[in-house]
Amino acid sequence: MEKPANKLYDALWRLFQRPDHPVPWAYGGNLPWDDPAFSERMLREHLDQTHGAASRVDQERAAQIPWLINHLSLQPGMHLLDVTCGPGLYAVAFAQNQIQVTGVDFAPAAVRHARRLAQEAGVSDICQFIEHDVRTFDFPSDEFEAATILYGQLAVMTKSEALDLIKNVYRALKPGGTFILELLNPERIDKSESTWWFTDDRGLWGDSPFLCLGERQWRAEDQISIERYHVFHLVEGEVDEIILCDQLYAVEDLKAMLHTAGFRDVCHFSQWDNLPLNDAAEWLVYKGVKKP
Ligand SMILES: C[S@@+](CC[C@H](N)C(=O)[O-])C[C@H]1O[C@@H](n2cnc3c(N)ncnc32)[C@H](O)[C@@H]1O
Repeated sequence: MEKPANKLYDALWRLFQRPDHPVPWAYGGNLPWDDPAFSERMLREHLDQTHGAASRVDQERAAQIPWLINHLSLQPGMHLLDVTCGPGLYAVAFAQNQIQVTGVDFAPAAVRHARRLAQEAGVSDICQFIEHDVRTFDFPSDEFEAATILYGQLAVMTKSEALDLIKNVYRALKPGGTFILELLNPERIDKSESTWWFTDDRGLWGDSPFLCLGERQWRAEDQISIERYHVFHLVEGEVDEIILCDQLYAVEDLKAMLHTAGFRDVCHFSQWDNLPLNDAAEWLVYKGVKKP
């Protein structure tokens, strides 16, 4: 068996020889949400009330739910599709307002948590969760009165995957159904190149000592921010390389994609329409309606 020290040394050489510019969407271009161990660690972050890095804190979500119900024109008994639902924090809150919800997400620990939360809230009869990659999910047709993609995951898909997903959401909606999509505000993204590092023995990257080296590059030509992480697991002698891409969309481009998919009455809200959210300025919320 190869000694951990050798593996780490070899990894340092590979790091030294890395290409100056990573290829966008290499290694999937996203966090390994669907990796079981990563998903368990990420669940801790989703539920941590000291920050909103993975999911918003309870108090902020409570402010969003009535706004969303209003803008999605949801009434008790209607059916909402929550795409990339994570641990079901929104989905269960909607169900507690007598709205039927189907959530889709590919993170195993998040989906397990969502199902448990629905059970504990006594809404598991109207709230179901499907563990699946939303890029390959076979969405039903004309089934939902409303759909959401909250907290920006469309940005980690390639443009063509994103357009396909928007088209699939359109197909899944009933005529007259409303879609709300939350995406990073391109004006607010940090476009500086930077590098950073830190060590820890418990966190998103692992639960034993690790060193994380990070770097960010900005590709102005195609409006993609790329973060590259090298995580050295010091005990195991393993190294993870993760490339995280964020595709930014100018407002008019995103609206054009919604129109291409068939949506009408497309509009957007900045600052989360002045809801009291810590990071409201970082986001744009788009709304579109399926042709009645
Ligand atoms: C930032 S979290 C937000 C979760 C939830 N919408 C919320 O706000 O609490 C992003 C979620 O998107 C999911 N996700 C990312 N890419 C996905 C994909 N291709 N298919 C299914 N789920 C995906 C992740 O597993 C994660 O749960």
